[in-house]
Amino acid sequence: MTTTLNSNSNKSPDSPLQSVSDIPSSNAPAFVQTLQAVFNPIPLLEKSRQRNGEITRSQSMGFPPMVFMSDPASIEAVLGADTNLFEVGSGNTILRPLLGPQSLIQLDGAPHKRQRKLMMPSFHGASVPRYGEVMTEVTENVMAQWEPEQTFPVHSSMQTITLRVILKAVFGLAEGERYEKLQRLLCEFTNFFNSPWKSTFLFIEPLQKDLGAWSPWGQFRRCKQKIDQLILDEIADRRQQSPQDDVLSLLLAARDEDGSAMTDLELRDELMTLLFAGHETTASALAWAIYWIHAQPEVKQNLMAELSELGTDPDPMEIAKLPYLTAVCNETLRIYPIVLFTFGRILKQPFDFMGYHLEPGIMLAPCIYLLHHHPELYPDSKSFRPERFLERQFSAYEFIPFGGSNRRCLGYTFALFEMKVVLAKMLSSAQLSLVSKRPAVPVRRGIAFMPSEGIPVQLLG
Ligand code: HEM
Repeated sequence: MTTTLNSNSNKSPDSPLQSVSDIPSSNAPAFVQTLQAVFNPIPLLEKSRQRNGEITRSQSMGFPPMVFMSDPASIEAVLGADTNLFEVGSGNTILRPLLGPQSLIQLDGAPHKRQRKLMMPSFHGASVPRYGEVMTEVTENVMAQWEPEQTFPVHSSMQTITLRVILKAVFGLAEGERYEKLQRLLCEFTNFFNSPWKSTFLFIEPLQKDLGAWSPWGQFRRCKQKIDQLILDEIADRRQQSPQDDVLSLLLAARDEDGSAMTDLELRDELMTLLFAGHETTASALAWAIYWIHAQPEVKQNLMAELSELGTDPDPMEIAKLPYLTAVCNETLRIYPIVLFTFGRILKQPFDFMGYHLEPGIMLAPCIYLLHHHPELYPDSKSFRPERFLERQFSAYEFIPFGGSNRRCLGYTFALFEMKVVLAKMLSSAQLSLVSKRPAVPVRRGIAFMPSEGIPVQLLG
């Protein structure tokens, strides 16, 4: 399919542009649209495409008026446009209580560019093989706790793995008192949003009231304060030590063009950002991968055949190159993307988009889920078929599990690497089988979606 950068490609040059009110929308009040979006978003999105087509207007509480789109041409019109047209950080303020005010996710313009440039090298280059060793070792340690015949939700094991990988590879923490404390507090912190009900605290700001240590928001705030202190203590210690092979060391050494380094508060908020953005997301993706691999025996057979060619104890850098494993990871992220939308792009200037004239203040949101189920790109889109990714290449506007343009996921190579290393280790050293015969479905956990019931599996003896 060819797409075009012309944002008015669905109009002839002479036809007048329509206004935002001409875009089809739901008639439900904002409160109802918010609840639907929190509790039951996927059927809502599918119904919206059937009724309204590829471009829809919607309104959720606490967000600017939103226009979302689901076909490659209109997604290219947004992700391929001049990034100076948009603000993104100001649309992410619901994450401020979790990440702090200096988080990359909430920055825009020059400060965003500066911070991204400082952080980007940590995920590429010389440190990557070391991250692979950490991922393998952490997976082995978590698997060592599994008992034969035991039944357990594999999502919990994946959460433990991805959290420990972040603590070791990103924070550079050695096991010890601070590591244990942070691990416990961070579990508490992420569990705070572990159901659609609890997630409403994020979306409905008036619920964020600290009514003392026993109130939900009071508990959350106290937990966050303890985490902040532990991270600041670690930063202070590390400033006195020589650098190691981890992201924090690289961030401590990073300098921008005028030679200035990141402050303690910037470092603290960026570490929280990497943890928040990289832990639950990768854990859900891994749990989904285990589900699909075990739900379809031929997928597992193909994978095992590919892995066996690398022999015992393969190098993580070789695992990362395997084509069928790569296709399985891509198909996992296609069929149920971990987040349904990219960050919203809020217009700072008037913008002519696909035949509509849009005014500043409107938020444009590419819908990852609907794009990944576009019938022209992905026939029989509800079937898990890794071969799609071997048969053709998808463009940056056709497959977008990690978003795109200047906000593309900073950790996408890290996440894909981790998925491949953990899956290769688990599949080659344990025999798992799915316990439930019911199909798993996505449920909300904060802003991400995880498999229902956490994918119960049994370890075969
Ligand atoms: C399977 C796992 C993951 C998925 C599906 C995912 C997905 C995404 C998406 C959709 C965005 C928004 C992009 C946009 O709006 O264009 C994003 C942003 C981001 N992700 Fe990820 N992510 C994953 C793992 C990670 C990891 C492991 C890290 C770091 C350790 C990370 C760090 C970030 C950061 C820092 C941003 C904000 C970038 C910016 O604002 O410039 N993510 N991610």
